[in-house]
Amino acid sequence: MRMLDIILKKRDGEELTKDEIDFFVQEYVAGRMPDYQASALLMAIYFQGMTSRETADLTLAMAYSGETVDLSPIPGIKVDKHSTGGVGDTTTLVVAPLVAACGVPVAKMSGRGLGHTGGTIDKLESIPGFNPFQSIEDFIRIVKEVGVAVVGQTENLVPADKKLYALRDVTGTVEHKSLIASSVMSKKIAAGADAIVLDVKAGSGAFMESVEEAFELAQEMVSVGIRVGRSTTAVVTDMSQPLGMAIGNALEVREAIEILKGERTGALKEVSLLLGAYMLYTAGRCQTVKQGREMVEEALDSGKGAQKLKEMIRAEGGDERVVDNPSLLPVAEEVIAIKAQRGGYISSMDARSIGQAARLLGAGRNTKEDKIDHRVGIVLHKRVGERVEKGETLAEFYLTKEENLQEAIDTFSRGVIIDEQPPQTKPLVYGVVT
Ligand code: URA
Ligand code: CA
Repeated sequence: MRMLDIILKKRDGEELTKDEIDFFVQEYVAGRMPDYQASALLMAIYFQGMTSRETADLTLAMAYSGETVDLSPIPGIKVDKHSTGGVGDTTTLVVAPLVAACGVPVAKMSGRGLGHTGGTIDKLESIPGFNPFQSIEDFIRIVKEVGVAVVGQTENLVPADKKLYALRDVTGTVEHKSLIASSVMSKKIAAGADAIVLDVKAGSGAFMESVEEAFELAQEMVSVGIRVGRSTTAVVTDMSQPLGMAIGNALEVREAIEILKGERTGALKEVSLLLGAYMLYTAGRCQTVKQGREMVEEALDSGKGAQKLKEMIRAEGGDERVVDNPSLLPVAEEVIAIKAQRGGYISSMDARSIGQAARLLGAGRNTKEDKIDHRVGIVLHKRVGERVEKGETLAEFYLTKEENLQEAIDTFSRGVIIDEQPPQTKPLVYGVVT
């Protein structure tokens, strides 16, 4: 088999065989194929697309390109969740303990943030002592003992995605539904879950900005899940404005804790409860999604979810007292208020701009090697549709250095639009694909 023939075939719009896809993944991971040929194939896929059969074959070839996790020592249906990435998107820290408190084991591997989006592993590392890098044996033991563990991906999980994602990032081939679907689903399959609930984001802060494209991506991932025998459900939710009010690592952990303690409501809580309901339903823990919703609400109201989070933090080496006393989290002491320049209605709180502003303050990275500052970030005081008076606080910036501050303020301000008329509000949840 020759790579050039595979490139030509896809360039001309033909369907690749399973053997051709396996050959591409194996040779590329083994370092026997140059980046320029892999790039050419990715670009051909970007323009010509893939059938769902090809996408499923690519997903499996990637999933088995390295180590896989066997969760069978944990009894029951193990359910995983995954978000396609967003800003102020802390659902995992809310929903994983809630679902575990309802008796469904949650064994989740998460990633770090990149670009304007945040990552669960960075957020967890803001908890003093917390070590997300557990061995597979400890990961399984914690899930068996506590019911939930959220850990970083092991080094050799899906090496094909590590290499291909890095290549896509620099060749303009990230935003394609088959490539995103295979990237996400290969990691979920390798991490061993029986059932998967996906939160596919639509809007300025998402990879797929239009709602229509987000649905196409959701459909693609669900059909890959079906083809590879993992029960998969996708909800499509809004990411035109940040999901929670906090953007930045320790600030987001604090917000998640406040939600679990019943001290705070809003869009982040709403999407978390929705995902939790689908996780319980997909795991067969309830007969209807509505029942699942009641169960996660009960776990929240009774404080069982907050208790589960404490147990997980302790099991992973962290200081669980942060749940009772969030002031133990490292949060920047210098806080400045960003005020409205005029009165009116907020018509935009652009997720991408706000994520970028938080990154400029030090909450995110530009390259994988950058160090982040867990203490910094942004707390919003307003959401789209709300009325604001001139001089009122739109947001607070938590900072530890003045460097980049003006650029962060400018970037934030470009994303916030105030109009005379109230805007048409967008739905928080666009729909569900099963
Ligand atoms: N998240 C992933 O893991 N992969 C993609 O391709 C896009 C988002
Ligand atoms: Ca985009």
